[in-house]
Amino acid sequence: SGSRLILGIDTSCDDTGVGIVELKPGGGVQVRANRVWSQTVHAQYGGVMPELASREHVERIDGILGEALGEAGVTLRDLDAVAATSGPGLVGALLVGLMYGKGLAQALDVPFFASHHLEGHIYAAASEAELSAPYLALVVSGGHTHLFDVPQAGHYVLMGATRDDAAGEAFDKVARLAGLGYPGGPAISEAATRGDPGAVPFKEPLKGQTGFDFSFSGLKTAALLAHRAGAAPDDLAASFQRAAVQTLVKTTVRAAQAAGRQTVVVSGGVAANRALREAFGATSLRVVFPGQGLNTDNGAMIALAAAAAIEAGRAPSPLGEGAVAYAP
Ligand code: KG4
Ligand code: ZN
Repeated sequence: SGSRLILGIDTSCDDTGVGIVELKPGGGVQVRANRVWSQTVHAQYGGVMPELASREHVERIDGILGEALGEAGVTLRDLDAVAATSGPGLVGALLVGLMYGKGLAQALDVPFFASHHLEGHIYAAASEAELSAPYLALVVSGGHTHLFDVPQAGHYVLMGATRDDAAGEAFDKVARLAGLGYPGGPAISEAATRGDPGAVPFKEPLKGQTGFDFSFSGLKTAALLAHRAGAAPDDLAASFQRAAVQTLVKTTVRAAQAAGRQTVVVSGGVAANRALREAFGATSLRVVFPGQGLNTDNGAMIALAAAAAIEAGRAPSPLGEGAVAYAP
């Protein structure tokens, strides 16, 4: 058989993402389109408002689908499968893309695949690098800080996770308290280029632990105290970023050694962070990051996860599959 076109939809949080991926006969993949509408309505609240997110997905999804089809130069009739995120995420937001995708698959009479959001983040990097297991996967986003060992395709062993805030959430909160704007990751990263990373001392989180967990609430509190004591926002950004990057890299390197892996996939919104990329680049591990536009939430990564499932011979999902806030 020839190439197959897979449509991927992600509406798990505050981005309406639709992507189209071409699965080639040999198993190779190519991202043909990746369109994302990033909701700005939440900025005034400093965090995502679930009800507003759902409503905006409803308003935007038709338009974003049209843009994706245009970018790929195809029509709905050319699609061979439809995939959508079923979780984890905000249930009301997830349901928009999930029901839309199921309806589309049913109308087009093509198979439907429910994708796991974190698997999408992992395949955003792994597929592009044509990486096959075993490898370690660090997912660092606004909602997750999860470290998995992937001994074989489709098998995930959780080695560690955050005990409190997610990494991206910590970037967002520190940016907010320092008055640097939302979303905080890009704002901290930008301010950090002007600041002194040694200006504010941070204690290493979970120092001495033998496991592979993460913790960011201590860094957040220390940042708040430093801010109240008059630390300059740029210095605070640079110092916090260095501490956050160090704990992520150090823990991941230890986990890779423990699991005997040489390759690490780093994905999710925080994987866009330049300092994080540089710090991982300085380790002896082979580190794979998602390409342009694939770090933060998007639909192409959901189509990539479905492509991997199709390649592995997984059966399509039943149309009764529901949305789940927390998926295993
Ligand atoms: O993957 P993502 O789009 O959504 C979730 O699934 O959560 O990640 C969004 C998170 C936000 O917290 C944002 O501040 C963070 O990723 N982020 C960054 C950068 N770009 C986005 N954090 C650090 N540095 C960046 N350059
Ligand atoms: Zn995400």
